[in-house]
Amino acid sequence: MTLELNRLDGTLAKAVESARALSVDDMAFLLSLSEPEDLARLYAAAREVKLKCCGKGVSVRGLVEAGNICAKDCFYCGIRKSNGATARYSLSADEIVSAAKAAKSLGYASLVVQSGEIESEAHTQFIEEVLRRIAPLDLGVTLSLGEQTEPVYRRWREAGAERYLLRIETSNPKLYAALHPVECSWERRVECLRALRRTGYQVGTGVMCALPGQTAEDLAHDIWFYGEMDVDMIGMGPYIPHPDTPLAATAPALSKAERLQLGLKMIAVTRLYLHDVNIAAATALQALADDGREQGVMAGANVIMPNVTETRYRRSYQLYEGKPCLDEQASLCRHCLEYRLKTIGEELLFGRRGDSPHFHRRTHT
Ligand code: 5AD
Ligand code: FES
Repeated sequence: MTLELNRLDGTLAKAVESARALSVDDMAFLLSLSEPEDLARLYAAAREVKLKCCGKGVSVRGLVEAGNICAKDCFYCGIRKSNGATARYSLSADEIVSAAKAAKSLGYASLVVQSGEIESEAHTQFIEEVLRRIAPLDLGVTLSLGEQTEPVYRRWREAGAERYLLRIETSNPKLYAALHPVECSWERRVECLRALRRTGYQVGTGVMCALPGQTAEDLAHDIWFYGEMDVDMIGMGPYIPHPDTPLAATAPALSKAERLQLGLKMIAVTRLYLHDVNIAAATALQALADDGREQGVMAGANVIMPNVTETRYRRSYQLYEGKPCLDEQASLCRHCLEYRLKTIGEELLFGRRGDSPHFHRRTHT
């Protein structure tokens, strides 16, 4: 047995045995694997931990893309405010409520409401109204509406939202600064995550991988950061260049397969490090390979978020190139997904909210 093989065996064995057993160095080592046999062992170990800590099955949340008007100008994002090529829309309260009803009738017990970042009293009140109107549906509601003040997070929590997703994008402040205009503050984003925690949400964060200038050490540090922030949910995925954004011009010419592989390795190492958090198989994986999300589940993810936004709006919410399911109705996506998961011996957990096991553990022990 070679020294490297010994190292892989030892590293995987201790990670499967207990959470937070990996050092940042160990994580960088696992993230640098590239031989197909090594990757197969990495994914299998992560899947074993997923089955042990989250059980069989995949939790499902209906995703509503509530609007693409955004005050931010992130260099990578297709709905950045300076992108004049994107037609802007925002769903009415009625449209969001009917998407929530559609999700409920498809058997999804949870809903994610996502949109561009807007900070205003009118927007805060609008979201409050939507939350109060969907409360009788008894769905687990996640918001993904960007940076807000703590009082706003509290108002939305009181109006019925239980979970909040705010990606840190990268845990490296220097890399963050290279990807965002000067007015965007990495420190404010961290402070928002702390405010969400104080306000009683199940808190989710995540990063993009395959970013220009990003190293395996950066990514290992990202996973360590999730642990430091003690988050409950992770939503992360590969960066995919969008042609109408400034970052696309400088992005390294990685193949789809390379971006996908990095996304899968991030899921696997995060599962091996944190054990009991919810990890989503992001839609960006499906943009890179038809069965990208299924591969994500096989690498340790336990959540999938099929789109329930009315089809005519989907084309306008393109954060990256190659977004899937642009023309499929929500019910078609449900059946497609059900079938796809069956092919890997998995199933969607209908009628269950699928709270983060980590959240329960930290609030009930
Ligand atoms: N490729 C992949 N993910 C992207 N996001 C934004 N732009 C891109 C892109 N070009 C992600 C960011 C953001 C989330 C809503 O979408 O991580 O937080
Ligand atoms: Fe939308 Fe397959 S998940 S068509």
